[in-house]
Amino acid sequence: MAYRCRECGFQSPKWLGRCPGCGSWESFEELSEGPGSEDEQGWIGGQVLALPQVEPPPRERLLSGLSEVDRLLGGGLIPGSVILFGGEPGIGKSTLLLQIAGELAARYGRVLYVSGEEAPGQVKLRAERLGIGEPELYLLSEQHLLRIGEAIKRLRPVALVVDSLQTVVARPGGGDIGGVGQVREAAARLAQLAKALSMVCFLVSHITKGGEFAGPKTVEHLVDVAVYLEGSREGDLRILRSIKNRFGSTNEVAVFQMGERGLVQVPDPSTFFVPRARAARPGSAVVPVLEGTRPLLVEIQALVSPNMGYGPPQRRMAGLDFNRVLVILAVIEKRLGAHIGATDVYLAVGGGLEVREPAVDLGVCAAVLSSLRDRVIPPDTVVFGEVGLAGDVRPVRKAPERLREVEKLGFRRAVVPPGPVPKGVSLVVEQVGSVEEGAQALGLV
Ligand code: TYD
Ligand code: MG
Repeated sequence: MAYRCRECGFQSPKWLGRCPGCGSWESFEELSEGPGSEDEQGWIGGQVLALPQVEPPPRERLLSGLSEVDRLLGGGLIPGSVILFGGEPGIGKSTLLLQIAGELAARYGRVLYVSGEEAPGQVKLRAERLGIGEPELYLLSEQHLLRIGEAIKRLRPVALVVDSLQTVVARPGGGDIGGVGQVREAAARLAQLAKALSMVCFLVSHITKGGEFAGPKTVEHLVDVAVYLEGSREGDLRILRSIKNRFGSTNEVAVFQMGERGLVQVPDPSTFFVPRARAARPGSAVVPVLEGTRPLLVEIQALVSPNMGYGPPQRRMAGLDFNRVLVILAVIEKRLGAHIGATDVYLAVGGGLEVREPAVDLGVCAAVLSSLRDRVIPPDTVVFGEVGLAGDVRPVRKAPERLREVEKLGFRRAVVPPGPVPKGVSLVVEQVGSVEEGAQALGLV
């Protein structure tokens, strides 16, 4: 006799009121015994093989046709691999995956796109909008795993997209649709199928801003690769980020722009967020931030203006960590004697990017001071560094890589924290240990 949690699959020899696996109440049900059960069949199926008998998986990677996606994944898609594709609703997951599915179908033949959320007609409309008309792209509107599995076995596609995991019913009556148990079982079974049939398998997963709910975290261990599509729905910028990759490095990013015809890749994002012919204006500072292993140049824009006296001073920011910026503003007030406590401060990151790295701190300082003093930071100068509560400027990771990148992009001068400077850069590197020194170096005192 055994019992299993309906929600998460946790098994126990005795019935429990509360599941130790997921904390659900009264979720245990008796497991059917006997050799006929599906679980046991699956369990017995494995075959012991001597190493020389084992066939290596196909080594050729498939190319998605989107070179940035291929680069992010470590050089293409490995047949039999399972890729978790997360992101908030409406961010563009279905769009990007339909584009990838279309490209794969054009190059390699049959691709199956399963939608549990949209009717085939809706997917077709999107395909038309994206200019996809591949005869080898097959659509299926289905939620039941069993029937999805049947379609896969019949069609034998080279690639499969399941949009989304949260709509798949793995076990009728086995917990809520979209619940942890269903999602996890669906992912596990689809992964088995992908391996058995050497098929590339994309599993779409919705996540909320917090990243909680029956989401990707509960299935990440089941997949080979996990990528997340991020960006603000208001802006047109999208970043695809790899969180896990069994076949390549993680924390890589690929940048896209959402347009009339889907997502268009931005192959050289390092200059994308800073207009090339940037007229130097007060309130603007350029910072090389690290997104994954790649430095990206971003423009921090600040506007400091007198409060009109109707209500408390405004603090508005886009793309930056609100609380962190408040601390930096307090540091500026205290260390530099700049009176911004009663003024309105607006901050934004050019291009709509979200920057969460501490290296941006000194850039925020510089942009605010530049606007406050109405003095321009020379356009050939970049600045980065973490700012501590005492006004100290602290080292950040991969400073040499950042310096090399900005040099390549034609900058002449960098105001940075103390630390090693790479050999052979022709850049003028000014190391500053405090915000006071930083302001001095930039001519903003
Ligand atoms: P979608 O791929 O449906 O998002 P998700 O699957 O992550 O929920 O994309 C949603 C948004 O993208 C929608 O608001 C419309 C917009 N969009 C474009 O701007 N251009 C396009 O070519 C397409 C297909 C969608
Ligand atoms: Mg969708």
